[in-house]
Amino acid sequence: MSTYSSSHPTNRVPRVRKTTRREFLNFVTGLVGLGVAGGTALLMGAFFWPAVDVGPSKKFKIGRLEDYPDDVRVFFAEAKATIWRRGDTIGVISNICTHLGCTVATREGDFKCPCHGSQYDAFGNVIAGPAPRHLAWHPVYKLPNGELEIDTSVDLDPSKTKKAKSTHFIKII
Ligand code: FES
Repeated sequence: MSTYSSSHPTNRVPRVRKTTRREFLNFVTGLVGLGVAGGTALLMGAFFWPAVDVGPSKKFKIGRLEDYPDDVRVFFAEAKATIWRRGDTIGVISNICTHLGCTVATREGDFKCPCHGSQYDAFGNVIAGPAPRHLAWHPVYKLPNGELEIDTSVDLDPSKTKKAKSTHFIKII
């Protein structure tokens, strides 16, 4: 006689429970709802995520001190700035007009804006409007390999309370 009976756990046939149509529809509806909620959350996240565009670098390598003739202002088009060597110092003057941002021309002895006629002296000080402020002066750094780098994102005298003059020439050591 067998020691197992039909009531023994190993002999039981598991009962299969069928999913009703209502349960299936509830499940599908739940999935669709989750998808819609997830998509909405992603869209909201994208909307509130700050769209920061750092833009191109404002640093430019301009060569070495000895590449520039003494006391001659040289327009460096890539940086929209004028490089002015005086002995062992360098001055960097922005060519961006302080009126509406046109590129001013570096001329013998001054700067002139082609858009509305503003004029600046050789140091970038306004001598004829409508420009409201002097041209900016930028810092120049000597890199370990001897090359010079300028940073046109920095204005050495943002207050513009005093004339630019020669105070912003930087000694290159
Ligand atoms: S943009 Fe230079 S004078 Fe207007």
